[in-house]
Amino acid sequence: MSRSLLCLLVLLSGLAALPLRAEDGALEPVHVTWPEQGPFGTYDRATLQRGFQVYKQVCATCHSMKLLAYRDLTQLGFSEAEVKALAAEVTVHDGPNDNGDMFDRPGRPSDAFVSPFPNDQAARAANRGALPPDLSLIVKARKGHEDYIYSILTGFGKTPPAGETIATGMNYDPYFPGHQIAMPPPLVDGSVTFADNAPNTTADEARDVVEFLAWASEPNLEMRHQTGLKVVLFLIVFAAVMYAVKRRVWSKLH
Ligand code: HEC
Repeated sequence: MSRSLLCLLVLLSGLAALPLRAEDGALEPVHVTWPEQGPFGTYDRATLQRGFQVYKQVCATCHSMKLLAYRDLTQLGFSEAEVKALAAEVTVHDGPNDNGDMFDRPGRPSDAFVSPFPNDQAARAANRGALPPDLSLIVKARKGHEDYIYSILTGFGKTPPAGETIATGMNYDPYFPGHQIAMPPPLVDGSVTFADNAPNTTADEARDVVEFLAWASEPNLEMRHQTGLKVVLFLIVFAAVMYAVKRRVWSKLH
């Protein structure tokens, strides 16, 4: 009896250690202060717009964001006309029409973000077998959240320590589990010239795009924070009223 219990324990601890082993050696993400964090956090609209520009000009060549529609971009502070123009930049494969044919047309605000590849197989074929994940929920999906994605994007360009060989076509990034990532360094200093002429070092571009990805993962965060604040204020007032009532009721009984 006790032996089988021991076996079970050993098995369970082995299972628990598995995911840890896969991440072995990945550096702890660098810590950045993000404006959306904390109970009163909000997204910075100018940063979000720049982040979208980085996604559009750089990341969108490989990564889809299927859960976003162009009309969602009004939340970044773009006007309806600007969103219409942004949507019209892409070509949407639509159909069938009355003749049963598929056709291409300019995008509309109600369209979902167009993916760079028609399917996962095509995405892998273009990236040496590795699948660039959809970025819609990536900030929530990865442990370390914003800090982790920021660290991955800014972690390239270091020399691997002696004894660590990097397979051909792979890139060294000490923040990625296993240190070898199939993504080539997507950002370099000045790779995006921002519409508002904001600084564009690799770190600036990474911070902006991560803020945009954080918004995509949780567009309702500001509403949630506001509701939380209202609930707490209500509870404080309610507690004060209840305390006054209690004193009133009990004062007659003394
Ligand atoms: C040339 C294609 C390409 C571009 C451009 C590109 N990526 Fe990637 N990305 C990939 C591939 C391929 C992977 C999968 C890597 C792997 O599994 O080894 C990946 C993986 C990722 C991951 C997941 C890391 C993890 O923990 O699994 C994130 C986050 C990411 N990319 C963000 C970005 C961002 C943000 C940009 C734009 C600044 C970008 N990528 C631009 C190809 C690309």
